Amino acid sequence: MARRIVAAGNWKMNETPSEAAALIKELVPLVKNDEEDVILCVPAIDIIPAKEAAKGSNIHIGAENMYFEEKGAYTGEISPAMLVDAGVEYVILGHSERRTYFAETNETVNKKVLKAFEHGITPIICCGESLEQREQGITIDWIRQQVKIAFLGVTADQAKTAIIAYEPIWAIGTGKTATTAQAQEVCAAIRECIKELYGEGVSEEIRILYGGSVNAKTAKDLFDQPDIDGGLVGGASLKPEFGQIVNR
Ligand code: 13P
Repeated sequence: MARRIVAAGNWKMNETPSEAAALIKELVPLVKNDEEDVILCVPAIDIIPAKEAAKGSNIHIGAENMYFEEKGAYTGEISPAMLVDAGVEYVILGHSERRTYFAETNETVNKKVLKAFEHGITPIICCGESLEQREQGITIDWIRQQVKIAFLGVTADQAKTAIIAYEPIWAIGTGKTATTAQAQEVCAAIRECIKELYGEGVSEEIRILYGGSVNAKTAKDLFDQPDIDGGLVGGASLKPEFGQIVNR
């Protein structure tokens, strides 16, 4: 079964609301492509102007984080219902920067994943090893643990619609892309893990992305790998280069 390629951007903490609207307008003609899912995950305050600027285009807007409670006394957090009301379809969960700087754990990621599904938002679930873990030879064990905990309580019907992003921490923002062989090896291991959890049908349907210094030069080889269904792109999604990644 052919899986649809996902070209997703993660803007991180970049672009003010007016800059976001201008950048989306610049990207709209460059990322036209009916055969792929083009998603831009933007800071919460940029979501509404980004949606407006993307109207009528093939760009889908996502969020970069979300809280796992419905509402209440959680100063500074964004609820799933707020995202849905603003037209958000996707949310990045468990990005390594959230895990490192904001103390997210596999358990909080799991709570967020369940909440996102409850509200009909597709989670883009991130996993990835540090350089130290890679050198210790525990990459696959570590990733399997992250994936298994993230999917606790997720049904097969939900799981097949999820997106997983494999982002080796040492490749993020460093200009050091994993080799296609390294990325393919881990993405295949993730698919195998999903197969063990849910069976072959789900594992063949779920989309697994690579992220970490993806650029216009590396995207094609990466996305052509049998178990890599696209990319989660940081820096290059803030530039016209994102169009070259989508239409590589
Ligand atoms: P870069 O593409 O800037 O390395 O960022 C990758 C990333 O963290 C996407 O979520």
